Amino acid sequence: MSIQQLYKSTDTATNTFQFPELIFVEDQLQNILSKADGLIQQTCLNLLQSGGKRVRPLLTLYSGMCFAPLNPLMLKASVAAELIHMASLIHDDVIDKSEMRRGKPTTNSLYGDYAAVLTGDYLFAEAFNILSSEQLLSSMKFFVEAIQAMCNGEVNQAEEQFSVTIGTDHYFKRIAQKTGILLAACCQSGAQLANAGAEEILCFREFGLNIGYAYQITDDILDFRGDSMSLGKPVGADLLNGNMTLPILYLLDNPIYGNWLREILRTRQITDQGLFSITEALLNAGCLEHAYLTATQCVNKAKASLSKIPASPYRTALITLSDSIMQRTF
Ligand code: IPE
Ligand code: IPE
Ligand code: MG
Ligand code: MG
Repeated sequence: MSIQQLYKSTDTATNTFQFPELIFVEDQLQNILSKADGLIQQTCLNLLQSGGKRVRPLLTLYSGMCFAPLNPLMLKASVAAELIHMASLIHDDVIDKSEMRRGKPTTNSLYGDYAAVLTGDYLFAEAFNILSSEQLLSSMKFFVEAIQAMCNGEVNQAEEQFSVTIGTDHYFKRIAQKTGILLAACCQSGAQLANAGAEEILCFREFGLNIGYAYQITDDILDFRGDSMSLGKPVGADLLNGNMTLPILYLLDNPIYGNWLREILRTRQITDQGLFSITEALLNAGCLEHAYLTATQCVNKAKASLSKIPASPYRTALITLSDSIMQRTF
């Protein structure tokens, strides 16, 4: 066995080699979910073992480690963050009728919406089981706000399927709700559990929100340009579901393609050919590039908000993590 194979022999697709602290996170997640019963244990462990980037635990841990060595509370908060994220993905796949996630069939496609909704609820309950311990109550506040925001963002997206009038401000508000506030909650709770000051915690909120914008915008770009094999989920799903993402909003503003696109969206039926033509138009009109540039600006803003945080290897790791958002292919 080569050295490379040794490192590849790990069970999960998660990068515990690059981020050694994740070993502890994986261990706790595995312990918690192994205790579930029957079908819920099976669905949770499947999702866990299919990997995921563990961005939320990393943000929680590294935000805290900018101020203090890794402590058990930070670790618990980071595990709760991933459980909340997993729950939201399972529910999101029900809403989006998605069949693949992290390269595996989704819970809804294997066992139906009923089992998927309850599995998501179970994961939320496990997250609150962790957060309800006294020393984590202040973190719970951040996560409660994030879950409420996620619900509002998803409902809003569903209400505005195929709407051609939403505008970019509205899109930014929606993606803050769907994604940014949870990333901010991770950073804030990590920093707080390491006894950071109020102003520093606010810097981390700004940081999390802005990488949240970049994270969701790149996800929305990948939905047009990604490769479903490496993404582990289908591409083109946003448009088919009528989710008006940033590249589409830019195309609606384009003098050549705007009216043509409005006509297609009015039918609320996107064929494979329609998806192909719209993707071509997005490329021709530079809308994907434009969205990529916008995401880069968000990353820059995020990094700037860390300038008041003392320099440390963990602040550097957060900056590297922010830059890697712009390179992501999955
Ligand atoms: C997917 O999140 C949903 C979004 C907020 C874009 P991730 O891309 O972090 O999903 P995993 O955990 O790595 O699978
Ligand atoms: C993330 O948005 C939704 C959540 C808040 C879970 P997406 O709907 O774009 O996520 P994917 O593309 O299905 O992973
Ligand atoms: Mg989705
Ligand atoms: Mg997406």
